[in-house]
Amino acid sequence: MASLLTFLSFFLIGSIVVQAAVYPYVIPNAVFGFTDSLSDTGNLKLALPGAVDADYPPYGMTIGEVTGRFSDGYLIIDFLNTRFTGVVEKPSLARDPSDTTYASLGFGSAGATVLPQAYPNMNPDILPAQVAQFLGYQQQVVSSNATAARLFSSALYYVEIGGNDINFALVPGNLSYESIVQNVIPRVVQSLKDSIANLHVNGSAVHFLIFNMPAAGCTPIYLARGEYSAKDELGCVIDANNLVQAFNEKIRETVNALRCEYPSANFMYFDFYEASVDFLRNSYELGFVNVDSACCGGGGDYNCKAGLVGCGCDRTVTPCSDPNKYMSWDGIHYTQHFYEVMADNILTRQYLDPPTPLLQNVPSTCSTY
Ligand SMILES: *[C@@H]1O[C@H](CO)[C@@H](O)[C@H](O)[C@H]1NC(C)=O
Ligand SMILES: *[C@@H]1O[C@H](CO)[C@@H](O)[C@H](O)[C@H]1NC(C)=O
Ligand SMILES: *[C@@H]1O[C@H](CO)[C@@H](O)[C@H](O)[C@H]1NC(C)=O
Repeated sequence: MASLLTFLSFFLIGSIVVQAAVYPYVIPNAVFGFTDSLSDTGNLKLALPGAVDADYPPYGMTIGEVTGRFSDGYLIIDFLNTRFTGVVEKPSLARDPSDTTYASLGFGSAGATVLPQAYPNMNPDILPAQVAQFLGYQQQVVSSNATAARLFSSALYYVEIGGNDINFALVPGNLSYESIVQNVIPRVVQSLKDSIANLHVNGSAVHFLIFNMPAAGCTPIYLARGEYSAKDELGCVIDANNLVQAFNEKIRETVNALRCEYPSANFMYFDFYEASVDFLRNSYELGFVNVDSACCGGGGDYNCKAGLVGCGCDRTVTPCSDPNKYMSWDGIHYTQHFYEVMADNILTRQYLDPPTPLLQNVPSTCSTY
């Protein structure tokens, strides 16, 4: 125990609060995000102002501000960063390029994938590009302030990306499930692993929070598509969720492989899938009344208008009056309230592997799978 505490205090600048006799609860001093639209806090809006529906109301309706977030308000990464540093997550493009202050930054961008763009008009800010931007920022901070160099090892590296590689392979890719499992998923997880290794080896990142893909088969965009008809007892599309689970199994194996290869790093896995499925079982007690329709959509079954890439949430539609009672905001993305529940899960270490405080290194468990 003494040596663990010594080790922790060696690399930690953030405060340490002893929560229980055995676990020092360590607070990250920054959160760096590598994500898609589920955790983009405004980069796509800054890159291409006015280009997408999230740049207009009713997006942001709960916080009374259009921020470029694909929700009615804040996201999981915002709730975590607020808990750790007191402010919501700043999109990296909002940073003054000459500012070398060490601070949390989200490098994620809506529509981002892990693999290079396979289809036209997709976001070029893929995961390796986000990592390169982070390393550039880090270089700039470190070269202007040597003290800041040490701080990067006590940040949380939030990795939530890969869902679009699957989504786009289905539409517009029109690849079969078998083809996605055999040809797409192995390349996605290899690239995910390479980027995380790059952050650790070249970016002195130690603490990773790696998300799997939530149960997309329970969201209006999948529910409303007639061709995926067979549903399970929770009303979710079975085929779609099977595909997501096949992907998640590989993400878990990848996290395990990273633990074996880099035992000095801390790879935490958040089971977003299981958390989102269990949410459906408990949603009523949590104050949600509608978990299968989009709060904001173009009408029709599940408030998800047929024939569109999304569900039709745009400036012209009237959203539900209380997004807090909905799981889905626009049919693809979730509401602030749902994200808040997920952030609480992470902070209370539910669906988290290992189930320990976020910045506590635990011995590698790579060989036990
Ligand atoms: C260097 O960074 C540290 C940590 O952010 C900060 O406290 C300190 O003021 C910075 N020093 C300079 C000269 O900017
Ligand atoms: C998608 O693929 C299926 C089966 O390979 C084929 O029947 C269908 O025509 C394709 N749809 C489009 C829009 O390309
Ligand atoms: C670290 O950076 C070097 C130089 O860019 C690169 O060749 C190497 O592959 C990187 N290491 C990892 C583990 O990505």
